[in-house]
Amino acid sequence: MFVLEDVGIRAECVATDEGNGVLELKTLAVEPAFQGKGYGKAMADFLVQTYKEQYTVPQVGTGDSPSTIPFYEACGFHRHHLVKDFFIDHYDHPIHECGMRLVDMVYLQRKL
Ligand SMILES: CC(C)(COP(=O)(O)OP(=O)(O)OC[C@H]1O[C@@H](n2cnc3c(N)ncnc32)[C@H](O)[C@@H]1OP(=O)(O)O)[C@@H](O)C(=O)NCCC(=O)NCCS
Repeated sequence: MFVLEDVGIRAECVATDEGNGVLELKTLAVEPAFQGKGYGKAMADFLVQTYKEQYTVPQVGTGDSPSTIPFYEACGFHRHHLVKDFFIDHYDHPIHECGMRLVDMVYLQRKL
């Protein structure tokens, strides 16, 4: 788990080894008051750079939401595959983001 500090904690992210050279960034989150200032992209770029010798495929998984997919695309990730019905099968209650119910898990990958 990594924490980005800049006169206080600004962001956190967990990086996991998914096997076959895949590095997955999970639960990336920026303090709400500091979103939209480049901290999230700085964290994603830092982790990709830090692990570029050990992994070949940086990956993220997220709901199909306009609050996250465009962010990851701006960070150089591209849609790679889906896990259908992930948010229905793994949660006992509906999850909504930006007024939309999350259904599938979208995996995005990036070139090093
Ligand atoms: C999603 C999140 C991590 C983005 O971090 P952030 O610090 O706000 O984003 P940044 O300021 O680093 O933005 C980087 C780029 O993404 C773009 N971007 C960010 N959010 C966007 C959005 N909702 N729609 C379109 N573009 C977006 C920015 O415009 C910027 O583009 P640029 O590099 O071309 O200027 C942050 O908003 C957050 O913590 N959200 C709540 C938790 C969450 O949803 N985490 C994702 C878990 S999968």
